[in-house]
Amino acid sequence: MTKIRIAVQKSGRLNQDSLKILKDCGISIDNGKDQLKATARNFPLEVFYLRNGDIPQYLRDGVIDIAIIGENVLVEKGQDISVAEKLNFSKCRVSLAVPKGMEYNSVMDFDGKRVATSYPNTVKQYFESKGVSADLHIINGSVEIAPNIGLADGICDIVSSGSTLFKNNLKEVEVILKSEAVLAVSPKISDERKDILEKLQFRIQSVLSARQ
Ligand code: PRP
Ligand code: MG
Repeated sequence: MTKIRIAVQKSGRLNQDSLKILKDCGISIDNGKDQLKATARNFPLEVFYLRNGDIPQYLRDGVIDIAIIGENVLVEKGQDISVAEKLNFSKCRVSLAVPKGMEYNSVMDFDGKRVATSYPNTVKQYFESKGVSADLHIINGSVEIAPNIGLADGICDIVSSGSTLFKNNLKEVEVILKSEAVLAVSPKISDERKDILEKLQFRIQSVLSARQ
C-alpha cells in the first residue's frame, strides 16, 4: 500500500510539537528510539526524522512528500517549496540584534559591519532590500556568542522567548520575519499521495480548530 512520507525534525524545538499534532490527528506512530524512520499503525504514513536544514532539499528531490518545518527554514533554503497549512506552533522571529550598550538608530547602522548568522540568505536579502552592505559570518549554532568573543558586531538569529539574547547581553533591533511551523509539500508529490495528503489535511484542520 502506498504511504505518504513525512519529514519531521529529528531533534530540537519542533520535534515534540510535530509528533504531538500527528498524535492529535489520531495517528499512532511506532517510535523505536534512535530510529530515523517510523511507520504509522493506522494511517498510510511513514515518518522520517531529519535535520531541519536538509528538509527543503529532500522535498525538492521528491524523496519525501511532505514535512513539518519552520517557515524560517523555507525562507532561507526553500522559497520554491509550497505550504499547505500553517500549524500555529513553534512561533518565532528571525531578528537582528546588537550588544545592549551599542547605540542603534536604524538598519543603516549595520552598513560596513560584521554580522554572524545561520541564516545568510535571509539576512542578505533583507540587507539588499534596505541598501545595507555588511560582512556576513556564517556559523551553525550559538550565534549569540559572536559579539562577545569579537567575531561580529551584531547577529541575526531566531528569537523565541528572548532569553538567549538576554543572557548574552544583546538587544533585538530589527525583526526580519515572523515564523511558525508549517506543513510543506514536495513539488513532485504523486497524485496517489496527494489523496492521502488531503485526508491528513482534513484531520489537521479539525485539530487546529479544536485547539482554538
Ligand atoms: C535557538 C536559536 C536561538 C534560541 C532562541 O538556539 O538559534 O539561539 O534558540 O530561543 P530563545 O529566544 O527562546 O532563547 P538553540 O538553543 O536551538 O541552539 P543552537 O543555536 O546552538 O542551534
Ligand atoms: Mg541558538
